[in-house]
Amino acid sequence: MNTQQDSRKILEDLNFKKQQLQKGLPIPQTQYEPQFNQAARATFQQAQSTSSGFFILTDSNFATIKLKKLEEYLQCVDSFENPKILLEQYITPSHISSHFLYTIQNNYDDIRGKLVADLGSGTGMLSIGSAILEASHVIGFEIDSEALQIARFNADEMEVQNIDFLQCDVLTDFIDSRFHKAFDTVILNPPFGTKKNAGIDIEFLKTAILLSNTSIYSLHKTSTRNYIQKKSKEFNCKGEVIAELRYNLDSSYKFHKKASKDIEVDVWRFSVIK
Ligand SMILES: C[S@@+](CC[C@H](N)C(=O)[O-])C[C@H]1O[C@@H](n2cnc3c(N)ncnc32)[C@H](O)[C@@H]1O
Repeated sequence: MNTQQDSRKILEDLNFKKQQLQKGLPIPQTQYEPQFNQAARATFQQAQSTSSGFFILTDSNFATIKLKKLEEYLQCVDSFENPKILLEQYITPSHISSHFLYTIQNNYDDIRGKLVADLGSGTGMLSIGSAILEASHVIGFEIDSEALQIARFNADEMEVQNIDFLQCDVLTDFIDSRFHKAFDTVILNPPFGTKKNAGIDIEFLKTAILLSNTSIYSLHKTSTRNYIQKKSKEFNCKGEVIAELRYNLDSSYKFHKKASKDIEVDVWRFSVIK
């Protein structure tokens, strides 16, 4: 069947289901199983955006909740009560987190049904977001017990179940570990190394690569781009910058009163060369 016929069948099927729904009649199983190529996918997206939203693709990478909804959920994640500056404790804002995770799912299909690790999980922002996007299971690794307590509280409050938080030092506790290559996807917003801990983001990245069997998504200061590229080759990974953002770190600290400026941050995807 050609693309045009594919698209027409898909729309007819969708239309039929809509009519059933409007009449209050049960919606049958999809009668037509489309072969998804780019054009069919585009038609589906278009149809979905104008439909009443009951139609969920079974083979699609597309997240089953909308980006705006994910951002709204993540606004409910509580932040650090007493952020420890030396651990670079600030929460990734819900706007950035939702876009970060949505891109990972929609563009790379690397969350839904995947085993996900979050290194330096803080109060759970990225872990909880991944769990909402239907990771098969998420483990957040964090050194600080106060942050872990808030993360567990957040997960309970938000009734997210496919998640665990473990206390550990990402820099030392994975050297000989049963977690080597155990995760499909590893995500991290690591400490950037701005508090007399230069190079800590690279150490986090090294651990992330040890734990992942497929891909790693991480944030790094844009000023370190060339260095990160060089390191990723050393670590036997293919690294690419998939987005750029501006991030006001100081405003993330409640007590910070001074005016501060944004820093430029790269969103990286590293794929493990097998
Ligand atoms: C920039 S925050 C990110 C927090 C959280 N992932 C988020 O996105 O909101 C970095 C986190 O790394 C944690 N951290 C710092 N050093 C660590 C270490 N050696 N092992 C584990 N976690 C660490 C901090 O406590 C902090 O929660």
